[in-house]
Amino acid sequence: MDGNGRWAKSRFLPRVAGHKRGLEAVRAVTKACVTQGVQYLTLFAFSSENWRRPKDEVSFLMELFVIALEQEVAKLHENRIRLKVVGDLSSFEPRLVRMIADAEALTAANDRLTLTIAANYGGRWDILQAVNRMAGSLTQPPGGYREAHLAPHLSMNYAPEPDLFIRTGGEQRISNFLLWQLAYTEFYFTDELWPDFDAQSLNRAIDSYCNRERRFGRTSEQLADEPVPAGPLHESGGDSR
Ligand code: IPE
Ligand code: MG
Repeated sequence: MDGNGRWAKSRFLPRVAGHKRGLEAVRAVTKACVTQGVQYLTLFAFSSENWRRPKDEVSFLMELFVIALEQEVAKLHENRIRLKVVGDLSSFEPRLVRMIADAEALTAANDRLTLTIAANYGGRWDILQAVNRMAGSLTQPPGGYREAHLAPHLSMNYAPEPDLFIRTGGEQRISNFLLWQLAYTEFYFTDELWPDFDAQSLNRAIDSYCNRERRFGRTSEQLADEPVPAGPLHESGGDSR
């Protein structure tokens, strides 16, 4: 979710006003995903690198996270939305950590949409913590570890790999998001700033996705013969380049 600061700056407002509007965009896009039948929405709210921002802005973002949980969790639950938070929560205030755990527990059985907030998240952090947990729980099998050994330890082990990655705000990079899981994801970049991103913007992204051909390493001709491709992690040692 990129472009909050620029959205505010162009209106001569403080950056934090952009973050507030960004939260409204989160509401709108979550609702639109429910309408569209999207089952997993994952939002990159705060990266492990975002601690480098000015102290005031970091505190505001943390406070906004608390306020959002206070205001939204009951509504999420009413709408049968499951909330998950992934990332290294150890640097968050205990109060925030407790609120996250409570919200996750309350909404755990909801099945309409899984909304994941990536907070103090980094793709490299995720892979490393998974490697450490894998190595701690399993002695190296003959032939070495394989993708299927690592994947259950990734922090989004409850979700399929993403079909579509959307980045707003005009930058064209991953910025340490779900590095492992994005291997076969379709990318969509838009200049729209996050606070302006709405249901129509989401529909444009989904339309673009619908016009892509996902081959998972195969040829177009093969897909015509066998239209439903096996996913990239289909257990063949993961060699589906
Ligand atoms: C993204 O908007 C929000 C967070 C990282 C929390 P930015 O704050 O990066 O907005 P720009 O890039 O300065 O416009
Ligand atoms: Mg930015």
